[in-house]
Amino acid sequence: MAAVLLFLALSPALPGETTAGIAAPGRDLPPPLNLTLPVEEALCRRMSVREFTGEDIGGAELATLCWAAYGTAHGRRTVAQVAASYGVVMYVLTAEGAFVYDGLNHSLLPFRRGDHRWVGQYDTAAVKLALVWDRHACSDENVASTVIGEMGQNVYLAAVALGLGTVTTASQVGQLRLLGLPPGQVPKIIMPVGPPAQPCPFTHQVLEGPLPPVENSTMPLSDALEQRREGLAWQGTTLTGEEQARLVWAAYGYSRYLDEQGKRHRTVPSSHGTYPLRIFAVNASGVYEYLPARHALDEGRPGDHRPAVGGATRRFVAEAPLIVIPVLNTSRVDPRVPWPWYYEGGAAAHNVLLEATALNLSAAVVSAVNHSALQQVLGLPQGHLPLLVVPAGRERPVTDDMPPAVALLQPEEGVLLVMGRPVMPLPGDLAVVIGPLAAQATASDDYGLQAVKWQVDGRMVGLQQQTPYRVRLPASLPLGVHVLTVRAVDYGDNAAVVRLRYVKAG
Ligand SMILES: Cc1cc2nc3c(=O)[nH]c(=O)nc-3n(C[C@H](O)[C@H](O)[C@H](O)COP(=O)(O)O)c2cc1C
Repeated sequence: MAAVLLFLALSPALPGETTAGIAAPGRDLPPPLNLTLPVEEALCRRMSVREFTGEDIGGAELATLCWAAYGTAHGRRTVAQVAASYGVVMYVLTAEGAFVYDGLNHSLLPFRRGDHRWVGQYDTAAVKLALVWDRHACSDENVASTVIGEMGQNVYLAAVALGLGTVTTASQVGQLRLLGLPPGQVPKIIMPVGPPAQPCPFTHQVLEGPLPPVENSTMPLSDALEQRREGLAWQGTTLTGEEQARLVWAAYGYSRYLDEQGKRHRTVPSSHGTYPLRIFAVNASGVYEYLPARHALDEGRPGDHRPAVGGATRRFVAEAPLIVIPVLNTSRVDPRVPWPWYYEGGAAAHNVLLEATALNLSAAVVSAVNHSALQQVLGLPQGHLPLLVVPAGRERPVTDDMPPAVALLQPEEGVLLVMGRPVMPLPGDLAVVIGPLAAQATASDDYGLQAVKWQVDGRMVGLQQQTPYRVRLPASLPLGVHVLTVRAVDYGDNAAVVRLRYVKAG
């Protein structure tokens, strides 16, 4: 019997089904395996696999996939947070049961007994990893989808390094709800993983272009996952041509291999193979577009536009020697459903972070807060949406231990508010709210805020990355006392919190 089953059989029996999430203690997973494949080799071998042998995978392989997707190293996750949020729950569907992966403790928490691998597409997979947006932990679908894109990318790369296959799927993921997900959880992606039915015999055929070809670094994938660092400040103003070429290639380039059908895959997957993103590179000499099919940069627009990019996003971005910006061409997709493209943007940005690590550089994932200003800097025509901004360079270590400032403007303590307006002061520190109310805060930071996050009674109700910091208090709450929390988080991960107890009185 294969090792996943053995590993689970050695663990205590699954408890009875839980109704409200996780009730049973977790079971530790074995340590992740060392993924020795160089980062670039894994990126070149990334492709979607939809047919599996039906054989199981080992417990160590499962542990490695889980760790790569959402585990921790040196106290940090293997993927970067976006807007100070993760907001993702990963379910692991095996022959033995459905589990939640607890990345902080590298363990599986029993969720449902039984084989639920019928959920989603491609049932011959050994395991399925279901990536679920937790609205209560992150109220912004695009932010959560960006993180899911980073996670999915790690699953692809770890699978490649383990000799396994996988595919990002968004079809039929709603079936996961039949397992009784807790409220607020929205299935987004399921990744079936298993031994591929036909291992791909790649043909080596470099895509020649004016940019330097991408060679393998000496950095094993595991090291890149462990050592990834988000940078806040940078040394120097330039990167070499080779470094820049590798970073933009990692975002969206083509493999040096052809698969058995003669298809050249890219470093990231794309829903329906659409590939609607355009990758821009901003450095001290100009704004350029990376042209993946030619492995080239276009002639570009001269001038140092980095300060303008910093102005449209965060100040520390402006000093980065290279800023990579994935932009969605909305004319190629349904603009009403942007989340799959944020997935793709997250995957592309994550690749830049991994490749930066392989080059002993660092990078960061910054939300593209002021879209119209960025569109202007990049000289984009209508219908182009900058998704993320990824500054990269040689890190200059800085200590940002100064927390941001945050204050609630409305409601204030000791005030009665009726239909959104303060009516009269009240004794004590409670606010009393009758009717709808838009709560408002002010926040600032010396380096730049990642996000302002709003919670009511511990559930996230709002997330903003730029002013106005405002959220409508949930109308569905029962009458009575509630706790409103506003948390401002800066790029040094310092947080400032204000809390207010208010009475919903009508
Ligand atoms: C957000 C997203 C959703 C996807 N959904 C599905 C899906 O439901 N079923 C499927 O077979 N492939 C799905 N794919 C995989 C793409 O079809 C695949 O990435 C694309 O055809 C390129 O092929 P490659 O990944 O082999 O290079 C999805 C990819 C992304 C990024």
